[in-house]
Amino acid sequence: MPTTRETVSIQELLAQRDFARKASELISRRYEHPPLAYVHSFGCQQNQSDGEKIKGMLAQMGYGFTDAPESAQLVIYNTCAVRENAEDRVFGHVGALKPLKKEHPDLMIGLCGCMMQQQSVADKIKNSYPYVDLVFGTHALHLLPELLYRRLSGEKRQFSLPEGNGRIAEGLPVRRDGKIKANLPIMYGCDNFCTYCIVPHVRGRERSRLPKDILAEAQDLAAQGYREITLLGQNVNSYGKGLPEPIDFSDLLRQVDAVPGDFMIRFMTSHPKDCTRKLIDTIAASKKIYHHIHLPVQSGSDRVLAAMNRRYTVEDYLQLIGYARERMPDVTFSSDIIVGFPGETREEFEQTLQLIRQVEYTALFTFIYSRRSGTKAAQMDDPVPAEEKSRWMRELLDTQSAIREKQQEAFIGKTIRVLADGYGKAGEGWISGRNDSNDIVEFKGPGSAIGRFVNVKIERAMNWALFGTLV
Ligand code: SAH
Ligand code: SF4
Ligand code: F3S
Repeated sequence: MPTTRETVSIQELLAQRDFARKASELISRRYEHPPLAYVHSFGCQQNQSDGEKIKGMLAQMGYGFTDAPESAQLVIYNTCAVRENAEDRVFGHVGALKPLKKEHPDLMIGLCGCMMQQQSVADKIKNSYPYVDLVFGTHALHLLPELLYRRLSGEKRQFSLPEGNGRIAEGLPVRRDGKIKANLPIMYGCDNFCTYCIVPHVRGRERSRLPKDILAEAQDLAAQGYREITLLGQNVNSYGKGLPEPIDFSDLLRQVDAVPGDFMIRFMTSHPKDCTRKLIDTIAASKKIYHHIHLPVQSGSDRVLAAMNRRYTVEDYLQLIGYARERMPDVTFSSDIIVGFPGETREEFEQTLQLIRQVEYTALFTFIYSRRSGTKAAQMDDPVPAEEKSRWMRELLDTQSAIREKQQEAFIGKTIRVLADGYGKAGEGWISGRNDSNDIVEFKGPGSAIGRFVNVKIERAMNWALFGTLV
């Protein structure tokens, strides 16, 4: 499959900058105070990262921000299409805006993200939600200034769903959500077409950013004092396809690792079929990369993996894990699991249980299979009733919590490094942070610890967090 790498041209970006300027003039004439925008991202980190660009463009147009949709002049929902319940939640939220719009007819409502890149969804909004002003798909993110300007200046409702594979738009303004951890997209889209998954259909083909753009952003983040950078892509292990100079993900990681600064590196998501020994060696030799790999396995059955088009076997997967543990005895893993893929049998599900007992993940993200129309799996026979799948899910969760409990107990008495990232939930004076494997750790300490790497001696464990004292 050819990998394309089309970019949004400088001329197009300048044209949008121009629309942003015109929008900002219009906004300052229309509103006495800077208007407020409420932007909510429903999906994965890639989606959150798009949300930060949306906020960057809105800030450029003169918007401030609020956490309350009721006090906003503009509400934007950045949607996710990965499972049906994600979509239902969005429709629920959009429905709830109707009375708000009735009360404040000036309120602008925009919907964007993966759900909106589907024509059927955009049509549904057009026909059944007449109070929505803007609808734009993932491929139209950079067009926000134009769409908003047109609508604000009285044109009809704006719908934009560019066809094709999506392009790379460099240089969009970004307004990041935090000051400690930053997402850094290194690639967009996906070429894998796992049979259950809608992502390649709504995000387009895989395209990698140039290393120089990624490194410049990493340097900038380090200079701003960010303590953790997460390199993002649907399959980071295939980074580099279609770039003018040959480079793979390990090479890129080495370059980001060499960026000066007091920060650590995460990356997601690693597809096991493209996870190489070179990558594991690179992590082992690095200074800044956490010894933790999110390596979604999805299922412990070779037949199900083949039906999912995952292109690895359980044996391949376990060999990788074994190699990583050989090279880094302290390495930990997390994973995604789908329960109840069409045609999955009880025996096949038990193979998944067997696998998770064997690997002992520190975290599992578990999902009941959700039929996505347009995907291959949507055509497959799916005889297992929903209640049965829910029972399997509970079994999976129980199995994992027993594993987790043992791991948590093993922490007691140990001193671990934690990146403090905010106030804790345990009560007054508690600080919260994360260790290398992204477990929540709470400890008593001063607010000034937030944003630093600290050592914490673990004394107690509950299922949601570890607790300890500052060393
Ligand atoms: N690119 C990443 C994951 C993207 S989606 C990867 O390949 O790992 C995140 C997770 O959602 C997937 O790993 C999968 O476990 C789950 N998922 C995707 N489509 C799904 C569907 N139709 N039903 C249930 N879970 C799904
Ligand atoms: Fe979906 Fe598979 Fe691509 Fe991940 S690798 S986004 S699961 S198609
Ligand atoms: Fe992410 Fe959901 Fe889109 S998981 S890529 S926001 S479909």
